[in-house]
This record gives sequence, structure tokens and C-alpha cells, in this order.
Amino acid sequence: MSAIDRIAGPWQGRGTLGGIPFACADGPTMAAGWARDLAALLGQYDREIDAIVRARVAVSATISDRRIQRMIDGIAHQRSALAQLFADAGLAPAAAPPLAPGRTSPLLAGWRQILRDWAWDDRSEEARIGADAVCDALRGAGVGELGEMVVLGAGAGRMPYELHLRFNSRLSLLLDINPIPALVGHRVIGGQTIELVEFPSTPVEPTDAATTWALRRRGPPVSGLYFAFDDARAPALPDAAFDTLLTCWYIDQVDQPFADLIAVVRRLLRPGGLWINTGPLVYRRRAVVDRLSLTELLTTVTARGFAALHVDSASRRFLCSPVAGDGRIERVHTMLWRRDATIEPSRRSLDIAHALAPTATKPLSTADGPGKAPERRAGR
Ligand SMILES: C[S@@+](CC[C@H](N)C(=O)[O-])C[C@H]1O[C@@H](n2cnc3c(N)ncnc32)[C@H](O)[C@@H]1O
Repeated sequence: MSAIDRIAGPWQGRGTLGGIPFACADGPTMAAGWARDLAALLGQYDREIDAIVRARVAVSATISDRRIQRMIDGIAHQRSALAQLFADAGLAPAAAPPLAPGRTSPLLAGWRQILRDWAWDDRSEEARIGADAVCDALRGAGVGELGEMVVLGAGAGRMPYELHLRFNSRLSLLLDINPIPALVGHRVIGGQTIELVEFPSTPVEPTDAATTWALRRRGPPVSGLYFAFDDARAPALPDAAFDTLLTCWYIDQVDQPFADLIAVVRRLLRPGGLWINTGPLVYRRRAVVDRLSLTELLTTVTARGFAALHVDSASRRFLCSPVAGDGRIERVHTMLWRRDATIEPSRRSLDIAHALAPTATKPLSTADGPGKAPERRAGR
């Protein structure tokens, strides 16, 4: 039996959407919610067009009029592209109340990550730089293969695609709870091109106000990479089923206490399995008491039986669209952990000290003796 059949076997009968299986048992409920979210989103696009058309009479400058027409056309294009994406997947909008004023559709959460993943490449190195950093960390730590990998909150899947490709993996399973990134990623990685529109709030040029991008895969095709819909807080996956677990821009975003998140990672990984985490610690939803700093996170993960192979932190551009006048700089932490690696308790504190040293970009080699460990201690 193939690895994916072994993992996905229990999902039989749970349904699919756009060729992506539901791993969770409540797929129909999830899809019904998405159908209502879709109706609310499409209605929102209609109202936005109406509002712009009504406000337009007050604008006389020709150049602004061109920008405004572009916005109207762009919103109409986006509306039909997203309606088509769901129609192709077999999901029709269902009756739903309108979105509350000022509220963004939950379907559009992570929207710009989708563009970074598959649209901006010709004018931005952001996606490539992020993937290079993780690959450098892995190679530096002596990791030569990833084996069977699961990805929690995979979004549109660019980072997993890069790792799968560069490490010549045989199985990567990408879980997400939002249909748009998964449907787009699934189709783009499968070789299709999808045209979607970006509406930067700070367009550089008038024509940037609604920028149509062709989302496509630039690299070669891969096999063995699968998407599945699931709530990654309690995934419908067997224990100890994976050699590698990837979280990128996820651990600070998911609505789940860290202790529970780490327990999920432990449960899914085989003994000796590898946890790759990359991303910042920029909390929004997590309870204040659970907004761990890097030091606290390292201590917490170590205390739960993981050994740090590598930790580094770097300030990087985040979602700096080529057509926007703004963007963010984030402090991105890249960490590699082994589950249940044999490592003495005294050595663990040295791992953390090494991880926190400002120049800590080198992996810890198991050949390093205590004499080679950095003298600096965490928090002292
Ligand atoms: C900030 S985005 C990052 C996406 C992707 N990993 C990346 O690096 O671009 C966080 C992702 O986590 C997903 N997510 C949040 N909570 C989730 C949950 N409970 N189960 C599965 N996915 C979840 C969101 O839908 C979103 O795609």
C-alpha cells in the first residue's frame, strides 16, 4: 500500500472539493460554510462596484477616471474568477447575510500570501529567499532528505513545493482550512495558470490599483505532493506517520495554545522526526499569556522533548508587493527540531544558548563536544 493510501484510507467517503479530499469528518459542514462565505464575498464585490460607480461622478481628472475604471473592471474580474474557481470545484454560493461593514471575508485571509507564492516572482524575490533560507538551514544541519512530510496551515503551498522539489521528496501532505489558497495552490502546482487581481491599498502607479497577475508554477512538475482540507489543530491523521512536519507563518497565527500545537507536532512525527518551523512571532489571536517570545518558545519546545538542530533569526521583507507602496519587515525565525533525539539535559541548555547567540546561523553538529559549545547562556 502506498504511503498516501495508508494515510488517506480513513478519509474514504468524506468527499472532495476541486480534487482535494476532506480529511476531517465534518467536510460537508465545512463546505456549506464556504458556500455561504462565497455568497457574502460575491455580494460584497457587487456592492463595491456600485459604490465606486456612484462615487465616480464626483471625479473629473482623466487619469483618476482611468484608475477608477480599472478598479471596477478588476473587481468584476476577481468576482468572476473566484466564482469560477468554486464552480469548477463544484461549490455554488449559498444564501448568506451580507458581510458586516468593514469586515473582510474569511475566504480572503492569507490572500497576499497566495500572490507572493505564485504571482510576484518576476518582480519579487520574497518567496525564493524564504525557501532558500529554509533549505540552507536544512543543508547546514546535514539534513539530506525529508521523507514523508506533513504541512500544517500550508496556504497556497509554495514553501512545501520548493522543499518537495529541492529534496526530491516522495510524499508531502499539505493541510489547510481555507479553500481559496488550497484550490489555487492545487491547480497552480498541477500546472494551470489562474488570473487573479491584486488591489493594493497604496498603488505605486494608477494602473497598479487593480493589477491582474497570472499565477503559475515556474519550476518543474512534482509528484507525491497532495493537498487536503482539515483543521490542523486536530488533524485526522495517524500517530507517528511522518518523518518531517513543516509549519511556515503558522504557529503564531493558528488559534490554538502552544502546548496543544506542540502536542499535535509530537503526535504526528515519528520518533527522531524533524520539525521545520519558519516565520515570525507576530500574534493576533493567541491569548496574551500564550504570546511566547523566542526564548520562551525555545525553552517550551525543548522541554517537550525536542532538540534544536538549528535556530536563526533574520529581518526580512514580508508581503512587499511589487505594485504597493508599503510592506512589512518581519523578524523571521527558522528552527529545526528533532523529536526525541537522544540528547543529555545539560546539552539541551547549550542548544538553547547556541540558538540565541546573535551569530547563531550554524547548525549544531552532533559531533560538537561540550568544549565547542558557545559560552553565552540564554537570558544571562
Ligand atoms: C499566515 S497563513 C500562512 C500560509 C502559508 N503557510 C504561507 O507560509 O504562506 C496561515 C495559514 O494557516 C491556515 N490555518 C489557520 N488556522 C488553521 C487551522 N486550524 N487548520 C488548518 N489551517 C489553518 C490559514 O488558512 C492560512 O492559510
